[in-house]
Amino acid sequence: MKKPIVSLTLAATLSIGAFGLQPAFAQSSEVGYHHVQDHFDKKLLKKIDAEKIYQNIDYLSKVPRVAGTDSEENAVHYIKEQFELYGYEVDIQPFTFYGYTPPTAIELSVVGQQGEYAPRAFTYSVSGNVTGELVDAGLGKQEDLQGRDLTGKIALVERGEISFSEKVLNAAEKGAVGVIIYNHSDGPLSGTLGEHNDDFVPAVALSKEEGEALSSELGNAVNITIEGAETGEKTSHNVIATKHPKNKTKATDDIIVVGSHHDSVAGAPGANDDASGTAMTLELARVLKNEQTDTEIRFITFGAEEVGLLGSSHYVETLSEDEIDHTVANFNLDMVGSKDAGDLVMLTLDGKPNLVTELAQKSSEKLNGEATPYGQGGRSDHVPFAEVGIPAALFIHSPSEPWYHTPEDTIDKISKEKLQDVAEIVGSAVYDRARVDYKGPKAKKGPKLKAKEEMFYEQEMK
Ligand code: BES
Ligand code: ZN
Repeated sequence: MKKPIVSLTLAATLSIGAFGLQPAFAQSSEVGYHHVQDHFDKKLLKKIDAEKIYQNIDYLSKVPRVAGTDSEENAVHYIKEQFELYGYEVDIQPFTFYGYTPPTAIELSVVGQQGEYAPRAFTYSVSGNVTGELVDAGLGKQEDLQGRDLTGKIALVERGEISFSEKVLNAAEKGAVGVIIYNHSDGPLSGTLGEHNDDFVPAVALSKEEGEALSSELGNAVNITIEGAETGEKTSHNVIATKHPKNKTKATDDIIVVGSHHDSVAGAPGANDDASGTAMTLELARVLKNEQTDTEIRFITFGAEEVGLLGSSHYVETLSEDEIDHTVANFNLDMVGSKDAGDLVMLTLDGKPNLVTELAQKSSEKLNGEATPYGQGGRSDHVPFAEVGIPAALFIHSPSEPWYHTPEDTIDKISKEKLQDVAEIVGSAVYDRARVDYKGPKAKKGPKLKAKEEMFYEQEMK
């Protein structure tokens, strides 16, 4: 499997921020949405409690929740319990995937010295405990290693020109028992080897500074220890709480999905990405529980988003044609509470407005006097919905916070004001469409959108 990482195309789209976004509420008229519904349910808005969202983020973000691990499963149980506490019946939808468990320990030391190095593992780095003479292997290209015998040695390689996995495989082919790749520019180095390969030897990443310091140890013995890393079949879960139409006589077959992902990347407690969206999904389920609606609302937290949108893809694959046709909207809450991120935006796969952006522009205009802008973006769980023609949008603050996918994505970076704001906008928009007396446009199926591969996948980092 190719490791999905930040797309340059998309990063560029997002970094131009305001320029790429369409703030115009007027856009709505383009798609024929003139109907103005006058009253939001003030009682409902009053019920939304940022403090509750915050508490749930706090609970969920104590540890990383990597898909397929026990900590993801703990989160799944907690989420299920909360939904049940609010009175929902909950389905747990398991699915398997072939994935990588990152190491529990990773060390690099020069034998006989106190280790000061802070190595990182690559995704798909294999476990092992290897010691050998440190040798310079240039860029680790075949021509760098021609005629050399690295048997039993540890190769020190600089980043650049060829992929990390090629460097590891080239050195291993010459007999190296371990590989250290250091950065060619400032900052820490982390990345992926792309996919599992039986020929890999333990490989770690170092910053440029540390790599250069280590090069003064050439000829000495170094040790690499990686523990707990493995590639294999894993199980992740989606958690689905369903609110059935309240008024049976008026019930429609329409379905709205409010979703988020509960998994995080390794090493990141994921307070904002995406305990924030998960806790907001719970809160919206709580406040909407007893509202009169003629539309079914499914509150879903997806597993394994961070390893390739797997939970949401699995969920969409399990839908019947009929369910797809009747799913009128997907609100995707992903990174909705960071103090250090920019303003709220909505991202659709094609950058065009749809029922979700229209409903939310209407509610944000009402609540804040300003319609939340929309732009183009993939990279999250709205993608599989959009791909089968379901109107879908990602709610996110842009630009993203510097803590994104780092160990610093913690509860202290969460803003209750932002949580309250997004929950009100999305809560109102969902309720507006689900309420018994809704008179706006009905299911408006969009075209089946194709996520361009390069939109959320990129070649492994070089
Ligand atoms: N929440 C992020 C997506 C995101 C981050 C979108 C910043 C826009 C700005 C999501 O959890 C994520 O990290 N997605 C992956 C892609 C996915 C296909 C594995 C990513 O963007 O690397
Ligand atoms: Zn996310």
